[in-house]
Amino acid sequence: MSDFPSILVTGGAGYIGSILVPKLLDRGHDVTIFDTFSFGRDPLDGVVDHADLDLVEGDIRDRERVERLFEEGDFDAVIHLAAISNDPSSNLDPELTTSVNRDGVQQVMDIARASGVDRLLYASSASVYGIKETEDVTEDLELDPITLYAQYKAEGEDHLNGIVDDDFCGVSVRAATVCGYAPRLRLDLVVNILTSHALDRGEIRVYGGDQMRPNIHVEDISDFYIHLLDADRETINGESYNVSNENYTVMGLAELIQDVLDNDVEIEVEPTDDNRSYHLSAEKVARELEFHPEYSIEQAVRDLQSAYRDDEWSDHDASTHHNVEWMQEHPEDWNFGGETYLEDTDA
Ligand SMILES: NC(=O)c1ccc[n+]([C@@H]2O[C@H](COP(=O)([O-])OP(=O)(O)OC[C@H]3O[C@@H](n4cnc5c(N)ncnc54)[C@H](O)[C@@H]3O)[C@@H](O)[C@H]2O)c1
Repeated sequence: MSDFPSILVTGGAGYIGSILVPKLLDRGHDVTIFDTFSFGRDPLDGVVDHADLDLVEGDIRDRERVERLFEEGDFDAVIHLAAISNDPSSNLDPELTTSVNRDGVQQVMDIARASGVDRLLYASSASVYGIKETEDVTEDLELDPITLYAQYKAEGEDHLNGIVDDDFCGVSVRAATVCGYAPRLRLDLVVNILTSHALDRGEIRVYGGDQMRPNIHVEDISDFYIHLLDADRETINGESYNVSNENYTVMGLAELIQDVLDNDVEIEVEPTDDNRSYHLSAEKVARELEFHPEYSIEQAVRDLQSAYRDDEWSDHDASTHHNVEWMQEHPEDWNFGGETYLEDTDA
């Protein structure tokens, strides 16, 4: 058993959480998920009755609620995933994004530390680098976030690094774009978008095509969080890690998907202004932590295909698979306008 019997996973009902939480339970941890459940609870159907799992509904912006959560929970470690989780959804309402991705995130970090949590693993993002000319993006490069989402991810890292010490270990995880099937399925991520278009429409539309995009399988990113629970604190404290497996161009991804699915998928190319392109180095996690991703992009495509065949998902366009569309359709769950949440809460 690890040093962290009791683990809080914020945002644990999300895409990554829906794969990570069952893995933590399998390892024998007591797991508490703290989540607004704005995307529903169905993704947790497979584990909801597990004796070691607690589901707590709440918002990371709600200070009183979060303090009570930590008082009652006595957590050894926190895996902090909760966020408005991509650029377009963060741009929907900057005030909301500020209240969640900046203030709420930093609040969780502060309260975790004050409550005696030993280790906090923070879901940052590879987007913190912005656009780099260098061939290989390594962790020592200056951060240059160009979107609100990326800016608050970078500020979260700074905040965490400012409060770590000998008793409170904090680590930032700069994940590449995640891919593959999960019970809470996001189809707004590049490999998943292209694969679902191929399966559902028989056509892949590629914008540009030459841009390099790094990816990591949802199983691997989940395993990496577990790897960090087992890692030596002296090695990881205050560190940031890129987590990436295969770097492909978008056209390379489309061709791989065409190959793997082995059907008559057409690739259509459209022009784009979004020429962000980078090659993320995963050398540091290999060298310092001996972490080596085990799931390929090809595997992610195959997993999505078999879930499609098994009717685990059917409609690429269903808003439940797209964060922006879902938030626009359910504004009441997101407290657009940011600060109003705190006034309205009765927690
Ligand atoms: N998926 C990726 O490609 C990727 C890549 C890099 C980093 N990340 C980061 O990893 C984390 C998890 O990503 P994901 O893909 O699972 O996203 P997701 O949107 O599927 O999950 C986020 C979860 O957080 C919850 N949540 C949102 N706001 C909340 C709030 N105010 N209080 C409590 N819970 C709240 C949501 O209900 C959801 O269950 C995010 O922080 C994301 O930015 C994801």
